[in-house]
Amino acid sequence: MTLKTSRIRKAVFPVAGLGTRFLPATKAVPKEMLTVVDRPVIQHVVDEARAAGIEHFVFVTGRGKAVIEDHFDIQYELERTLADRGKTKELEALIADLPVAGQASFTRQQAPLGLGHAVWCARDIIGDEPFALLLPDMLHHGPTPCLKEMIDAHRATGGNLIAVAPVPEDQTHQYGIVGVTDADEKVARVTQMVEKPAKGTAPSNLHITGRYILQPEIFDLLARQEKGAGGEIQLTDSMIRLMTDLDQPFHAVRFDGTIYDCGSKIGFLTANIAYGLERADLAPALKTEIERLMARPRS
Ligand code: G1P
Repeated sequence: MTLKTSRIRKAVFPVAGLGTRFLPATKAVPKEMLTVVDRPVIQHVVDEARAAGIEHFVFVTGRGKAVIEDHFDIQYELERTLADRGKTKELEALIADLPVAGQASFTRQQAPLGLGHAVWCARDIIGDEPFALLLPDMLHHGPTPCLKEMIDAHRATGGNLIAVAPVPEDQTHQYGIVGVTDADEKVARVTQMVEKPAKGTAPSNLHITGRYILQPEIFDLLARQEKGAGGEIQLTDSMIRLMTDLDQPFHAVRFDGTIYDCGSKIGFLTANIAYGLERADLAPALKTEIERLMARPRS
């Protein structure tokens, strides 16, 4: 079977999740709009996609998420005011973040039926070409953007790719876990995939980190709407069929940077400190404040 290794132009961002782990912060504000330093989490992930050469950004949103759409649009009054006040740098930064007109699409997932269902909602916008998928909770931080490493690898492998990284064994039941031909290789062939394996049954400690390159045939499999782990329509189940029933190549790219799970409070707080400490304008004062807090007697 031959598979096209065509260019990855479009990326899907599933942003319909309710964010129950962050209530009450996420009652009226989508969790994707919570900020890591001064950029919303979703902006960081869009930055990664853009740095990887993505040209079209597809957001699968839901009720109460309209502000994400506003975030990626012109804010006319604000731009006017910044221009009037001569705040050229701020204005240029805002404009640089904007997707080009016509290169952002929004579609709604009408019910929270699972990640597989959210991805399926993007089928008409993606059409018949391979695409990237980025889960916005997971911030991937490293010298090279994770998706760029994957797109580079895809030129050689074609087919489907997922980013993986090791997790402590007592956490494997929280993720999709893969088995690979050689866990020490940067790019290895996937031999097994299982969504949220029961404790003690994971094929390895390599988890699916939330970055994917997928072939469009995944949509026909997702259309079956079969429920998996947790009663949800799981993306991993259709990826398994893509690999086994359709015999498509599946590779894992090991991400060697740091991953912050911003869907968890600790991950989110840590990301704020880590990203803050990398900012030349903030690092010295932030470090002093952290040291002061750490030295404070605990009650
Ligand atoms: C999803 C995927 C899982 C992956 C995880 C990464 O799970 O189904 O395979 O490991 O994202 O965050 P969720 O976090 O939606 O339960």
